[in-house]
Amino acid sequence: MKTLDRTVFTQNHLVGISDLSPDEISLILNIADDYAGRMKEHKFKCDVLKGAIILTLFFEDSTRTRVSFEMAAKRLGADVVTMDVRTSSLNKGETFSDTIVTLNAMKPDGIVIRHNEYNAPSYVANRVDCPVINAGDSYREHPTQALLDALTMRQHFGKLDGLSVSIVGDIAHSRVANSNMMLLTKMGAKVKLVAPSVLMPEKTVVPNIPCFDNVKDGLKDADVVMTIRPQKERMQNVMIDDAAYYRDFGMTHEKLAYAKKEAILLDPGPYIRNLQISDAMADDATRFHYTQQVSNGIAVRMAVMDLLIGRK
Ligand code: ASP
Ligand code: CP
Repeated sequence: MKTLDRTVFTQNHLVGISDLSPDEISLILNIADDYAGRMKEHKFKCDVLKGAIILTLFFEDSTRTRVSFEMAAKRLGADVVTMDVRTSSLNKGETFSDTIVTLNAMKPDGIVIRHNEYNAPSYVANRVDCPVINAGDSYREHPTQALLDALTMRQHFGKLDGLSVSIVGDIAHSRVANSNMMLLTKMGAKVKLVAPSVLMPEKTVVPNIPCFDNVKDGLKDADVVMTIRPQKERMQNVMIDDAAYYRDFGMTHEKLAYAKKEAILLDPGPYIRNLQISDAMADDATRFHYTQQVSNGIAVRMAVMDLLIGRK
């Protein structure tokens, strides 16, 4: 019987997986699983966030995260206000800090923020009166992505404990890799990192994770392979040769065969064809469970907003 005991959840914000206990992670996944089932109903909507207004602030580009937070909030009965950062008065010289003070004075019930500055969500959380949810900050953390990845793995294998997960690609610049490393090790999974040396961090956020510079060794015995896009927008003093990257790390059926026979492939998206993943691999829904990840993104964000902003 999956526990839905909300008393284990003690957070006021979600800025990172680093703050969550295994019980809190399980609770979020259990509530999300419940929402995922209920969303199979046509036009599912409930009133958990009825009367609430959620403010979304995206200081970096996004397709999946932004849309799924909005859909999740609306499915929970909330209204959503999106500040268009590109046309805001930040362009007139107002500081980020004064912008946050201003928005807080309008009394949103929750703030969802993506920002290119490290720790920006914590900075905001310390200055506002409502829950703040991190939708990705610099290369630090992307907690709801790791939660939706975990939900997808758990739905497929029935557990996280004991799974072997190989994360392949730009580990050095990826918040998704960081949040996944933390979540998966907290939940008893084994993580391996696979990257060319220039894209492997000098120090990993979780100590003692095995690191590999080739897919043959790095994918051995993997139940799950997760590819991570080269985060070119964040690279400084690093150049990668796209053709060499694709040859050595681009995911193909041949490379996936180094993992277990029944291994699944995940990617947070956006995935770049013929750099990160072959066309044939991207189009093989029997192995690549990307669309389930995207659907689970809504359920996970509903669970997080339910816990933080809805019923306490
Ligand atoms: N969309 C994810 C992120 O924002 C992964 C990526 O962009 O590669 O971190
Ligand atoms: N996976 C993810 O965060 O996608 P977006 O950058 O499109 O939001």
